[in-house]
Amino acid sequence: MDQRLSQLPDHPEAADAAPFAGPDHPMRLLTRAKAFGEPWKPAESSRIQEIFDGLASSWSETHVDPVKAAPVEDALERGAVPLSGSWLELGSGTGAGARILSGRVGSLVCTDLAAEMLRHAPDLAPKVRADASQLPFPDHSFDAILLINMLLFPAEVDRLLRTRGSVLWVNTLGDQTPIHLSPPDVLDALPGDWVGRTARAGTGFWLTAMRA
Ligand SMILES: C[S@@+](CC[C@H](N)C(=O)[O-])C[C@H]1O[C@@H](n2cnc3c(N)ncnc32)[C@H](O)[C@@H]1O
Repeated sequence: MDQRLSQLPDHPEAADAAPFAGPDHPMRLLTRAKAFGEPWKPAESSRIQEIFDGLASSWSETHVDPVKAAPVEDALERGAVPLSGSWLELGSGTGAGARILSGRVGSLVCTDLAAEMLRHAPDLAPKVRADASQLPFPDHSFDAILLINMLLFPAEVDRLLRTRGSVLWVNTLGDQTPIHLSPPDVLDALPGDWVGRTARAGTGFWLTAMRA
């Protein structure tokens, strides 16, 4: 067992996801490469933007549901992240996270690369179109950063978080999520020493991480 991680019991309704994206899935490979230091290229940014702009209308109909919400809800209950602070969501898409956080956290800003994803999201929080590899916010602006099935750019997360800030990382299909990193991978990828707690919920898992 990884000494940095507290593994909490599974949520009572946790279930395995059906096979979907194995370790060789191109998005899995991209996610790992970017988390562990490969530069994010303008062509990749354009391509991902194009893909998600194209998916936006169907995404807003099919990707906002209780199974997807379950790990986020469970993390808010058991993840020991204070709700009162200023929250930032990266890759906020069509609002799966905002629908849960809005009204429960001190403040929330939603960001995504794809304008169409943001356009299909409800107006529950300010929506900023920006690339998560380089965001238009000052250093140490946020108490918590949420990523649901979103690429991790570790240096930028580290820059934006306050000293006692928390990362909430969610993969709603567990290790079958195309944009997947395991909890130890997330702790390894973030700069410096981090500790976390994690649990399975819905068909996925959540991790809350803080600097050690
Ligand atoms: C798999 S979707 C998840 C969307 C949302 N979090 C959800 O769970 O429904 C990934 C999202 O991340 C966004 N994204 C991907 N790369 C990004 C980047 N470099 N900067 C900002 N957003 C990005 C995509 O546009 C897309 O909306």
